Amino acid sequence: MRPDVVIYEVGPRDGLQNEPETVPTAVKAELVARLASARLARIEITSFVSPKWIPQLADADELCRQVARPPSATYSALVPNEAGYERFRAAQLPVAAFFVSASETHNRKNVNRGIAEHLEGFRPIAARARADGVLLRAYVSTVCGCPYEGDVPAQAVVELVRKLDALGADEISLGDTIGVGHPQQVRELVRAVGQTLALERVALHMHDTWGRALANVAAGYDAGVRTFDASLGGLGGCPYAPGASGNVATEDVVDLFERAGVRTGIDLDALVDTTAWLERAVLRRPLPGRVYRAKLGQRERAKAVAE
Ligand code: HMG
Ligand code: MG
Repeated sequence: MRPDVVIYEVGPRDGLQNEPETVPTAVKAELVARLASARLARIEITSFVSPKWIPQLADADELCRQVARPPSATYSALVPNEAGYERFRAAQLPVAAFFVSASETHNRKNVNRGIAEHLEGFRPIAARARADGVLLRAYVSTVCGCPYEGDVPAQAVVELVRKLDALGADEISLGDTIGVGHPQQVRELVRAVGQTLALERVALHMHDTWGRALANVAAGYDAGVRTFDASLGGLGGCPYAPGASGNVATEDVVDLFERAGVRTGIDLDALVDTTAWLERAVLRRPLPGRVYRAKLGQRERAKAVAE
């Protein structure tokens, strides 16, 4: 049965780009395989960015050689420039994800150039992607606020969405990079963007710094969005956005929707197993996802009763 919403797993990319330790390539490949087994159908697995800027994902090319490719899962990777696109093509992934900020200073900190110049760099990538039959996702970052400039006008986001659409983006993900957005703001932003782009082509990418990511997902759903980025256990953050914490936890989003009768298609128990494995065997630090932690607690209580 077709799910009612798409949960787009970004943990292997957005999560692991922000970890102090670099996770071994074979472990990343296992993580992706486990996520696919939990029926995550869209997974952002890595980034073809500069290894000097994000050393944690410097093994992107090797990961793509190692990763299993079940037909049920579609993988994407970040592509910031033509050098990244060359690597992306060699890796034979179906979806390239470009990213640009709605605020000038964050864009410069993140990709070392201004918005206009960076967008010009997207033009040849988009043309090549079209010719190569590659799907293009594009992130607009800092849509609810910038760590350097503060408030970001919704109009600046709408303008960028319009330009990315004109350049050939298939899907546009609105990123609250520093997790400052609130539900009313998200509703208004979605309404404004929806006047430019059909909401089937819009995703929400909420970080949870201020604890409102899940409320923002609910507001986005009410406003008509049906694709939501999330990260297992609430892992993640942007290294060029100081103080920003992880994405909304995938388990929280799955549970929110399933409780409301909105089908996600995801095996929540298998996902909790995967997050527990990542937390205990790989990262060795507690992950913040609320439903994940509640499920673990439930399991421990059930085990204690059975003993
Ligand atoms: P730069 O240093 O200005 O690059 O970085 P350059 O074009 O001047 O090249 C310098 C050197 O880097 C050259 O090598 C290039 O070949 C090499 P050298 O001649 O010195 O030996 N180079 C590359 N190597 C491998 N792959 C590449 C690549 N490009 C250049 N793709 C650049 C510019 C854009 C590359 C850099 O700033 C960068 O990689 N930035 C990425 C930062 C990043 O990944 N941030 C996190 C992701 S965004 C995010 O998390 C937000 C999101 O989740 C949504 C949200 O939450 O809002 C998506
Ligand atoms: Mg992000």
